[in-house]
Amino acid sequence: MPVFKAPLQGILGLAVLCALHAPALAADADAGAKIAAQGGAQGAAACVSCHGSQGEGGANFPPLAGQPAGYLQRQLEAMAANQRKSPIMGPLAKALTASEKADVAAYYARLALPVKPKQGALPTAKSSDGAWLVERGRWADGIPACAKCHGPGGAGVGQDFPAIGHLSASYMQSQVDAWKNQSRDAGPLGLMGAIAQKLTAKDIEDAAAYYQQLHSGSH
Ligand code: HEC
Ligand code: HEC
Repeated sequence: MPVFKAPLQGILGLAVLCALHAPALAADADAGAKIAAQGGAQGAAACVSCHGSQGEGGANFPPLAGQPAGYLQRQLEAMAANQRKSPIMGPLAKALTASEKADVAAYYARLALPVKPKQGALPTAKSSDGAWLVERGRWADGIPACAKCHGPGGAGVGQDFPAIGHLSASYMQSQVDAWKNQSRDAGPLGLMGAIAQKLTAKDIEDAAAYYQQLHSGSH
């Protein structure tokens, strides 16, 4: 029996993973480009009017370009189901069909992410608080390094961990607030929802400032 069990679990795990990511793989990014530019068939507004012509985002709108398709699709589903509450995006996400969500997610995932994976130096005594938090974490408070999940330079990992190395401090703070007041779903395994409870406003400013410095090359 034990001989049988391990490979079986492996196969089951693979099947679950494939099932989770299959919609993103079957998606039509070209159809997604049309939705981004012109809106959806059921009346969803054109994404470009808020998220920018290349998904670069704006002062009040997060960037979408280069985020993992699986992540983007899951956010659209969560916003449509009101598990991630957004007065602006909620009705829009509801107006996208399941395949439109997958298509538009595939389109944005195809665009270039403005930050590249970039390994920061391991912090020393002289390093900033942001460097410590991002590269080492703050274990006294049970906070793992952001880099552990969001990758080197905060450029994202796989389909579940979005890039954060290019996000504004104000957008990051708005999301941390949303997790704190339970208006955003805690995400895969509840990982980010739990960490957000422990992050202060200074942590977010420090992390955003560190990422900016890292990617501007002056670090
Ligand atoms: C009227 C402005 C507006 C339009 C049009 C719009 N969005 Fe948004 N979008 C927003 C705002 C505001 C947020 C941030 C919501 C929040 O605070 O959680 C957002 C967030 C998102 C997110 C979550 C991003 C992240 O990093 O988690 C996705 C995905 C998204 N929008 C996709 C789309 C798509 C696809 C379209 C086109 C069908 C679209 N949006 C059209 C305003 C807009
Ligand atoms: C244990 C893994 C893990 C660690 C460590 C982690 N995150 Fe996350 N984070 C996630 C996951 C998973 C998501 C996606 C949540 C979802 O799907 O809604 C996420 C999402 C985010 C988002 C939302 C991005 C968007 O586009 O809306 C921000 C901001 C964020 N994390 C900041 C941080 C910061 C800052 C740190 C370090 C202090 C950190 N994270 C550490 C797992 C982690």
